[in-house]
Amino acid sequence: MRKIANPSVPKHELKVLLLEGIADTASAQLALNGYRNVERLKTALDEEALIERLQEVRFLGVRSRTRITARVLDACPRLAAIGCFSVGVNQVDLDAAHRLGVPVFNAPFSNTRSVAELTMAEIVMLMRRTFPRAQAAHEGRWEKSAAGSFEVRGKVLGVVGYGNIGSQLAVLAEAMGMRVVYYDLTDKLRHGNTEPTESLEALLAAADVVSLHVPETPETRAMIGAREIAAMKPGAYLINNARGTVVDIDALADALKSGHLAGAAIDVFPKEPGANTETFESPLRGLDNVILTPHVGGSTEEAQERIGEEVARKIVEYSDVGSTVGAVNFPQVQLPKQPTGTRFIQVQRNLPGELGRLNELFAKNDLNISGQYYQTQGEIGYVVLDSERDVAPQAADEIVRQVRALDGTIRARVLL
Ligand code: NAI
Repeated sequence: MRKIANPSVPKHELKVLLLEGIADTASAQLALNGYRNVERLKTALDEEALIERLQEVRFLGVRSRTRITARVLDACPRLAAIGCFSVGVNQVDLDAAHRLGVPVFNAPFSNTRSVAELTMAEIVMLMRRTFPRAQAAHEGRWEKSAAGSFEVRGKVLGVVGYGNIGSQLAVLAEAMGMRVVYYDLTDKLRHGNTEPTESLEALLAAADVVSLHVPETPETRAMIGAREIAAMKPGAYLINNARGTVVDIDALADALKSGHLAGAAIDVFPKEPGANTETFESPLRGLDNVILTPHVGGSTEEAQERIGEEVARKIVEYSDVGSTVGAVNFPQVQLPKQPTGTRFIQVQRNLPGELGRLNELFAKNDLNISGQYYQTQGEIGYVVLDSERDVAPQAADEIVRQVRALDGTIRARVLL
């Protein structure tokens, strides 16, 4: 249990560490909100270096290369929240962070548009056989011909996974004159003239282009294998800008070699190089009309800028107001700024009677409660408590000390 007896620190002194060259928009957002003690590093840190660096750090920002293990979290009790400046959050031990009352924030929608735009462009490039012709031109061959080139207008796009990216792509594709059908596990709000199909098989049979936008789950593993590819229309195209495990890549290579499929665009692979210096190996290399990109579907400067701003804003909201909306491992509480009085925050164990004990403590301190917000999730409860009157900083620190001394408290703070 982490109960540190540090007095509350004004926010311009709170230490923030941003690793891995996080976009400038993050530090700008923090500065705008009065956070001046921000250190930025270009690199990731290993476990030992993290533990050493994080002793005084309240908020940590990482991208995908820094691993925040249970050991790091246990050894750094002042760390109050983590911002993953990415879509994924598997670089953090989320269960350990949950148990220790550390919310983890990310930016799930910031690169939606980037993926949708690339996919739309690839549909056009595939149907015009642009890449083979461009490659030939680079090699000095002039392949001027209409053979195998098609307009996208009037063709059927089958979107598998009609979520943020799939539905955004559908909007772009309809604007280009395509007819869009989709298959999703759950009922979805239909945009434009898109139509759901009864089954994946029905989508595969109807679509001229199949584009995958499902997450990586046990159900989506090898969701598109030899059987599904055989069920696609002869001469159709397959696009996978979702996750490498969704497609059986050998079956895809066979279908491209046999001519059953006319082309493919693949951004994600079952095995991807860990660094730009490693060689990329794939059975798809060298195949005709196949666009291979190195997992850059969501990688644009705009997406990075949005990620910086979005995650920094979530950290500020948590620090300034106590709001946890957007945390992936925490009870979700959306809060107004408190107009008067003083706001106290406690993360407690999710056990019967904990809330009562906290309220009793405030009564003993002769403090009337004007607002209380409470949510539980898993092992923890999150309490935000506004006192009716303003509490002077020293007295507030004393109350926080008492809250920390309660058995069920995981962490506590006051907003100054
Ligand atoms: P999302 O969660 O908004 O949408 C996913 C959709 O797939 C949901 O509507 C869900 O109901 C559906 N789904 C889940 N399992 C399914 C199944 N077994 N069958 C049919 N539908 C199923 O996610 P979003 O933001 O649209 O992203 C989709 C995926 O794209 C992400 O999970 C990620 O793996 C990938 N991605 C790739 C990037 C790249 O750089 N290439 C960048 C960003 C995301």
